[in-house]
Amino acid sequence: MCGIVGYVGEQSALDVVMGGLARLEYRGYDSAGVAIRNDSGDLTVVRRAGKLGNLRAALEETDPAELSGTLGIGHTRWATHGAPNDRNAHPHVDCTGAVAVVHNGTLENFTELREGLEHRGHTLSSDTDTEAVAHLIEERYDGDLADAVRSVCRELDGSFVLVVTHRDEPDVVVGARRNLPLVIGLGEGENFLASDVTAFIAHTREARVVDQDQVVVLRRDGVTVTDLDGDPVRGEQFHVDWDTAAAEKAGYEYFMLKEIDEQPEAVRETIGGRIDSHGRLRLDELAMSDEDVQGLTQVIIVGCGSAYHSGLVGKHAIERWARLPVHVEIASEFRYRDPVLDPHTLVVAISQSGETADTLEAVRHARRQRAWVLAVSNTVGSSIARESDATFYTRGGPEIAVASTKAVMTQLVAMYLVGLHLAQVRGYRDGDEVRSHFRDLSHTPDLVTEVLGRMDPVRKLAREIAGQERVLFLGRHVGYPMALEGALKLKELAYVSAEGFPAGEIKHGPIALIEKGTCVVVLAPRHALTSKLVTNVQEIRARGARTIVIATDGDESVTPHADDLIRIPDTKSLLSPLLTIVPMQILAAEFAMARGLDIDQPRNLAKSVTVE
Ligand code: M6R
Repeated sequence: MCGIVGYVGEQSALDVVMGGLARLEYRGYDSAGVAIRNDSGDLTVVRRAGKLGNLRAALEETDPAELSGTLGIGHTRWATHGAPNDRNAHPHVDCTGAVAVVHNGTLENFTELREGLEHRGHTLSSDTDTEAVAHLIEERYDGDLADAVRSVCRELDGSFVLVVTHRDEPDVVVGARRNLPLVIGLGEGENFLASDVTAFIAHTREARVVDQDQVVVLRRDGVTVTDLDGDPVRGEQFHVDWDTAAAEKAGYEYFMLKEIDEQPEAVRETIGGRIDSHGRLRLDELAMSDEDVQGLTQVIIVGCGSAYHSGLVGKHAIERWARLPVHVEIASEFRYRDPVLDPHTLVVAISQSGETADTLEAVRHARRQRAWVLAVSNTVGSSIARESDATFYTRGGPEIAVASTKAVMTQLVAMYLVGLHLAQVRGYRDGDEVRSHFRDLSHTPDLVTEVLGRMDPVRKLAREIAGQERVLFLGRHVGYPMALEGALKLKELAYVSAEGFPAGEIKHGPIALIEKGTCVVVLAPRHALTSKLVTNVQEIRARGARTIVIATDGDESVTPHADDLIRIPDTKSLLSPLLTIVPMQILAAEFAMARGLDIDQPRNLAKSVTVE
């Protein structure tokens, strides 16, 4: 949840660390702080509650000499232990001010550690679990910071990424991790540690993932990685090919607006290169033999939030094309109900970040039950990708805004491709049919571009209704998961009560919410069920609802019942989520902006949720 950066090299550590934090701020923005080992050999710690801007202001008031140095660490926080105030902001220091620590995660034995420290005479000045680590390192330090960190890590329960510096070790930053991500950036005469690669891709594209229970010693001229006993471990270096510009706003006011516009390209990239010279769809990432695919008896899709909604669309695609039963589960519920899994079960774990703790635990549970786990992730080297049997990487590029847009779009594409591949291998669809569906899918980037070009009336509408405190979303078939997605986007960005329902269900209760002027967004792309949906729209309109209908070009069946009409181009109904999702993203973004809200960093949220 928190973002962490560590740097040692030849550049101004403050500039590098602040640049990295700016790119990691999406991970949490309750407070931020830095510790710089300055040229006089002291550690300067500056930290402030609130967004990075508050820290920047505090740094401007600090004597530049105190901040001038080439080694530093930084943190941007999503609060777990302790309120989001200055006192609880990281870095935390020990009693002597020699040790500075930043931490992502939660320590389960924190109360016990803290009591022990206080008993031994330490004074802890924050409410955080992290501060205990600084004092434990103080106790264990005997001239070797890495040794002290290893010793402390052996005592910690829970999940953590720690990045630590010591005043007396001018060339060393130490990092350690358990259950949460930490990546090394390998430069020339400089090295980096960060929660994800976006923090350092402006400086280097060579990276290495730190594995479970490993400790990294970062120096200007090299990096060593050991296990918790101090034995060296090997790891794989990888090259990051993300475009640096993709992690910048490029003139947009918000990352979210830029990411919405990047969707046609993200879809194109994710679809690209899938048909081989024999005209067969390739999904080598699944890494299952045809025989194993033919032996599958069920598919279970797990994910959280928007990823879960993508999974719900995946169920339609896989069941329709591959005739395999599919269950879709909210990842945080999955392992607690003892699901029935076996080696003939394919579990698809969808996660943009690849770090969501609930989804990661679902993956671990599924693998323990010997199911085959396919991760669908946007983040190379992420924990979920590494712990799964196989990974389908969506090629959306970095997604910085907390509200997921282009990542969801590419997850939908991944679901369609998995569905078509399973259908092809299991023989439920012949080559011509698979190719025809694939062709339809390949046309969607152009259709998404077309939808994006039609969005001005939606922006106007959003501003007009931005005073509403409740908005409902209705859909049927694949429109239902998209109704859930539209509602999630609006509630997370605009803080209004927004709910999605299957349109046929509202008469069983939710219709009681309708009163004069209640805004209801109805997803009504052309489908065999459109006539039934028309009846549902009439029911709510008769009770005073203002109906905002998303309908296919040329379909007049719903027009008489729409107060506001949003048109999308025609496509196969199964693929319609790729188009209906766009107006809902724009509606939510514009609605929230009209209320003066920051759509990249909605309150109380973080981009990747690494606590259960
Ligand atoms: O990184 P993940 O895909 O695992 O994240 C899952 C959810 O936390 C995420 O989709 C969340 O619901 C978004 N903020 C929705 O916009």
